[in-house]
Amino acid sequence: MIFSTFKNEDLDEFMQFLDSNITENYDKKVFLSIKSRWPDGFILIKDGDRIVGAGCGAIQLNSKLRILILAVSKNLQRQGFGSKLLNMMIERSLSYGVKKVTLEVRQGSSAFSFYRKLNFSSVDLLPCYYQDGCDGIVMEKQI
Ligand SMILES: CC(C)(COP(=O)(O)OP(=O)(O)OC[C@H]1O[C@@H](n2cnc3c(N)ncnc32)[C@H](O)[C@@H]1OP(=O)(O)O)[C@@H](O)C(=O)NCCC(=O)NCCS
Repeated sequence: MIFSTFKNEDLDEFMQFLDSNITENYDKKVFLSIKSRWPDGFILIKDGDRIVGAGCGAIQLNSKLRILILAVSKNLQRQGFGSKLLNMMIERSLSYGVKKVTLEVRQGSSAFSFYRKLNFSSVDLLPCYYQDGCDGIVMEKQI
């Protein structure tokens, strides 16, 4: 397994990875914009040419890192890859003065348990936040 930084030519494979691993639908142009704003923070895990994990985020003006995507292929979950991706993103954000990490998760999802394990706290509820009407929970962690 290789950790590498996203390149524009990864976009189609990345969109396929999201289709298989994330419930939400995204416009692919969004990811080129995310990449152009913070290229080092857009990290892929590859098994050969295949993307099996990905994380990207945005550094906000209020010294917060907002995690936008964090996902690992189902057959590779619970092997530490999600934690490693998140920690790499956090490490790469430190030189921008980031002091807090923030993100949204589906209420009751396994991702919620993952972030709790990594010491994130719930700070807000976003009613009907997701496309299917599911509520979102805002979680944050001081770093
Ligand atoms: C959330 C996600 C990225 C976690 O990745 P991962 O590689 O499985 O996570 P790790 O192996 O690093 O897990 C670290 C710890 O988090 C907790 N955890 C992870 N997945 C969990 C689950 N499904 N249920 C309960 N706890 C979980 C465990 O305590 C785990 O440690 P352990 O396996 O030693 O018990 C992965 O489950 C995923 O891709 N989910 C689908 C996409 C998604 O919901 N992304 C989040 C949107 S922001």
